Amino acid sequence: MTEQTAEQQTQADISRMKELAWGLTSTAALVAAIDLRVAEALDAGPRQCADLAQQVEADPTTLQQLMDALVSRDVFERRDDGTYEHNGLSRLLRQDDANSVAGIVKWIGYPELWRLWPRLTDAVREGKPQSVEVYGKDFFRYIHEDEPQAAQALSNAMTGASNHTSEQVAKSLDLSRSATVADIGGGQGHLISTVLRANPHLRGTLLDLEGVVAEALPALRSGGELADRAAVIGMDCRDDVPVEADVYLLKNILEWDDASTLKTLQNVRRNARPGARVVVVETLTDRTPEPMVTTSLDLLLLVNVGGRKHSSQHVEELFTRSGIRFDSVRPTGTFLAMAEGTVTE
Ligand SMILES: C[S@@+](CC[C@H](N)C(=O)[O-])C[C@H]1O[C@@H](n2cnc3c(N)ncnc32)[C@H](O)[C@@H]1O
Repeated sequence: MTEQTAEQQTQADISRMKELAWGLTSTAALVAAIDLRVAEALDAGPRQCADLAQQVEADPTTLQQLMDALVSRDVFERRDDGTYEHNGLSRLLRQDDANSVAGIVKWIGYPELWRLWPRLTDAVREGKPQSVEVYGKDFFRYIHEDEPQAAQALSNAMTGASNHTSEQVAKSLDLSRSATVADIGGGQGHLISTVLRANPHLRGTLLDLEGVVAEALPALRSGGELADRAAVIGMDCRDDVPVEADVYLLKNILEWDDASTLKTLQNVRRNARPGARVVVVETLTDRTPEPMVTTSLDLLLLVNVGGRKHSSQHVEELFTRSGIRFDSVRPTGTFLAMAEGTVTE
């Protein structure tokens, strides 16, 4: 390498490092764009900033600062005539887009999460979550008891994110010989609804915390399109999982501390008949196509609940320690994998 090339490399490394360190501004700018509904305002076509500012009720100069920050991150385009227009990334910010990321982006930037990040060093040093230090109680208890808007934002984010994967996950499950399915920690019920729609012979149960199932999707509630085939239970799955089903789904829930995971899996095993299938649907660290997203979530789980993302091998160990036979890990055609086990007796 010539001296000039080495110097160029150093400059590129410095630039890259600064970009990494400024990552928080990407989150802030995306959240501001969602709050202002800029993506919706651009639906009608390219607009000058002054015109856009009038519609979203923002100051034109500062809106331009926000738009240029987003354009530099490849979200929205700025045309030669100075107008802004949509591109593939920016369309995902629309709240009613079929593939909207608005809910998940809002959650990633939510103040209750943001306040935990300054304590990441402590979390790593001490090997424990920081919610008690920051909020005085466990993270889920805190948002459900004290910050219902944050709890609602989490549920919305999970439902929005499920929208990207539920169809594929449902297709990856062979339920032709099953009669009943339970989704444990199933949020507002996006996955179980998708599974029930795809399999008209099935009955299903959604179990999640009381405050979450109170906001279950209308299709599952009394009078809803799936209500006669669906039961909804509001409780802590670490206390019990009082459901007998042929298939138990656990999607993106066993990411907290291992003791909670073991309690949940043991509750499933205790209530299940021999032969019941236990299907854990998650991003697995050794199979993820999105390493940066997965490791970011891994750090979040550390700082908020003392949890982590698992490898296939760790899921196998957790099944075995819970007395459930581990069978296989399979892809789902999404970033999620499916680890499956069987209750043997
Ligand atoms: C990351 S979200 C995943 C939700 C859903 N399975 C999905 O993939 O969209 C974790 C879910 O676990 C639920 N949860 C957390 N602690 C729980 C507990 N102790 N008992 C039951 N559900 C719980 C949360 O309310 C939330 O809906």
